[in-house]
Amino acid sequence: MRYLFEVCVLGLMLLQPLVSGSTVPRYFQTAPFTRRGLSVNKVEQELGPLLSKGSAIFGPEDARFANTTERSSTHVIPKIEIVVVPATESDVSVIVEYCNDNSIDFFAVNRAHARTYTPGTFKGLMISMEQLLKIEMQPDRKSAWFQGGTYDGQVMNYLWERGYVTTTGSCDCVGMMGPGLGGGHGRHEGLYGLISDNLINLNVVLANSTAIRVNATSHAELFWGMQGAGHNFGIVTNFELKIYPREVDRWHYHNYIWTGDKLERLFEAANNLPKNGSLPVNLALSFNSFVLNKTISENEAVITWTFAYRGSAEEAEEVLAPFNKIEAVSDEMGDVPYPEISIAQGTDIGNAICEGNHTWIMSTAGLKVYNVTAMRRIYEKHNEYLNKYPELLGAYVGHDSYSNAASRKIKPEASAFPFRDYNYLTSFGVEVPPGLNASLTAVATQWANDIRDLWNQGQPSVKPSNYVNYATGFESLPSIYGYEQWRVKKLVDLKHKYDPQNKFRFYNPIIRQ
Ligand SMILES: Cc1cc2nc3c(=O)[nH]c(=O)nc-3n(C[C@H](O)[C@H](O)[C@H](O)COP(=O)(O)OP(=O)(O)OC[C@H]3O[C@@H](n4cnc5c(N)ncnc54)[C@H](O)[C@@H]3O)c2cc1C
Ligand SMILES: *[C@@H]1O[C@H](CO)[C@@H](O)[C@H](O)[C@H]1NC(C)=O
Ligand SMILES: *[C@@H]1O[C@H](CO)[C@@H](O)[C@H](O)[C@H]1NC(C)=O
Ligand SMILES: *[C@@H]1O[C@H](CO)[C@@H](O)[C@H](O)[C@H]1NC(C)=O
Ligand SMILES: *[C@@H]1O[C@H](CO)[C@@H](O)[C@H](O)[C@H]1NC(C)=O
Ligand SMILES: *[C@@H]1O[C@H](CO)[C@@H](O)[C@H](O)[C@H]1NC(C)=O
Ligand SMILES: *[C@@H]1O[C@H](CO)[C@@H](O)[C@H](O)[C@H]1NC(C)=O
Ligand SMILES: *[C@@H]1O[C@H](CO)[C@@H](O)[C@H](O)[C@H]1NC(C)=O
Ligand SMILES: *[C@@H]1O[C@H](CO)[C@@H](O)[C@H](O)[C@H]1NC(C)=O
Repeated sequence: MRYLFEVCVLGLMLLQPLVSGSTVPRYFQTAPFTRRGLSVNKVEQELGPLLSKGSAIFGPEDARFANTTERSSTHVIPKIEIVVVPATESDVSVIVEYCNDNSIDFFAVNRAHARTYTPGTFKGLMISMEQLLKIEMQPDRKSAWFQGGTYDGQVMNYLWERGYVTTTGSCDCVGMMGPGLGGGHGRHEGLYGLISDNLINLNVVLANSTAIRVNATSHAELFWGMQGAGHNFGIVTNFELKIYPREVDRWHYHNYIWTGDKLERLFEAANNLPKNGSLPVNLALSFNSFVLNKTISENEAVITWTFAYRGSAEEAEEVLAPFNKIEAVSDEMGDVPYPEISIAQGTDIGNAICEGNHTWIMSTAGLKVYNVTAMRRIYEKHNEYLNKYPELLGAYVGHDSYSNAASRKIKPEASAFPFRDYNYLTSFGVEVPPGLNASLTAVATQWANDIRDLWNQGQPSVKPSNYVNYATGFESLPSIYGYEQWRVKKLVDLKHKYDPQNKFRFYNPIIRQ
């Protein structure tokens, strides 16, 4: 009798929040109870039958787990206890609802190339977008729908074969929405703007599991927020993006390797490229990096530089004439269909840049012009570290230059993307191989910070900016989401409206905890 009584009391206590909360919308109630030690088997039993055929649920014991949870960078990793792979868009709502009912944190992962360290605070259920890969061109050929798991190389190839292009990131292995929700720089930016500038519609699963259509007239404020700060607001299961006739059949590329003594002439040449507020439209992407190449020098980084030009060799080489005058160690060029420009620039899926499972320590800063004095200081500082810490691997100082005329034409207040007037994205990375001691992680972090500080010291009158998709997430909030006070306030207001419990807080969160 006594036993029964206790069970009843306990039962009542568990049910109480449900009963007393009955007039409050379900979403605003805290979960009825927390499922301690919820096992993978239990989730399979409970959630499995609710999902479409072809979905998968598995935990760390499963053979698929290691591949599905592999990440580009492992310096900081989320603690994934269980993976769910939805087979259809509607499964995503069901998964989120189940997580909410059971107080499980959830996190969408697409191609796992995030650079930020903030996923390190995550513990819970990973929603893998890997099966949501459908692409559907619309009958008018002005747009296409892409599911939330589509990725750059897939999209470039699919459209090119059919005579079209769109805005993507430039690395074949990277997802569309990872970059796209934060802007998304790519080789068509000069002509058409960022990925986010070309969005027409988003199908979004909100934090409370409700699926909505977001566009310029439906949830218009949220549409504004998702064009630059979208990782904070929902899971995109499908999106409609503008597409464009491909127009040119071949792109020209030219790759060079120079020694460090050419640094000043190179960056002056880059600053003097013909431009009118923005970079030449068809000089789609050029990037350079300071890296060690021991066949050329044991102790001084070389400067590698790759240019991709949308058009003929003749046109391109005219633009590149000032660079051709600077004597290179080696150079090579060619003309290829657009999808192969990734191979030429080393951003294809088979390239080291796409390889996962490396302990990258990183930093970034957005630049308006190349300050040649600062570049020299950066180069010297980089060499100093390279020589002192040969145990640290793969160190690079990189500068990306996307042609950006179309992106600059869009009004800054039109979307949550805050930094349209910066010309160069920079990135530093160095790998601490497994097994090395913690003091080397500290050295790598100092190296990253020193290079970042030198970039910023090169433009004392410019506020530091950290492109959301390159940031580590520990930089100041305005340096990621914008300095205008109204901008961050608007984002915070949107968070209160669409994600009041801050469920989407694992990718450079607007609301930090
Ligand atoms: C090798 C490399 C190359 C890069 N090249 C470029 C580039 O050319 N241009 C550029 O702008 N950036 C580039 N970046 C930065 C890139 O934008 C970010 O790292 C981005 O987060 C990677 O997306 P992902 O899908 O690969 O990674 P993920 O880690 O899978 O996704 C990153 C985050 O995006 C969110 N997310 C992903 N998919 C969805 C979805 N469907 N719905 C809602 N949220 C979602 C999640 O919060 C997730 O944590 C590059 C990064 C790397 C490592
Ligand atoms: C994991 O990925 C590798 C490389 O893509 C592949 O060879 C291997 O078969 C995969 N393993 C499983 C269990 O899927
Ligand atoms: C990642 O690297 C670590 C350390 O080198 C290794 O133990 C692990 O097996 C790798 N994981 C995958 C999925 O390749
Ligand atoms: C925006 O969404 C609404 C609601 O779903 C829809 O009626 C409208 O057609 C959409 N707009 C565009 C441009 O697709
Ligand atoms: C430079 O750009 C401005 C504004 O877009 C334009 O009015 C002007 O004609 C351009 N000048 C040249 C030389 O292209
Ligand atoms: C290093 O330089 C040599 C000589 O120019 C070149 O052939 C090689 O491709 C370079 N290596 C890398 C990794 O860039
Ligand atoms: C860690 O590495 C640093 C740099 O190589 C070295 O000076 C230090 O002695 C190492 N510490 C330990 C505990 O091995
Ligand atoms: C260039 O960078 C140096 C520091 O490296 C700085 O002192 C100088 O003011 C910068 N020049 C300009 C024009 O910003
Ligand atoms: C979920 O949140 C949205 C945005 O606040 C709201 O419009 C919707 O009604 C909520 N859904 C439920 C089921 O409460």
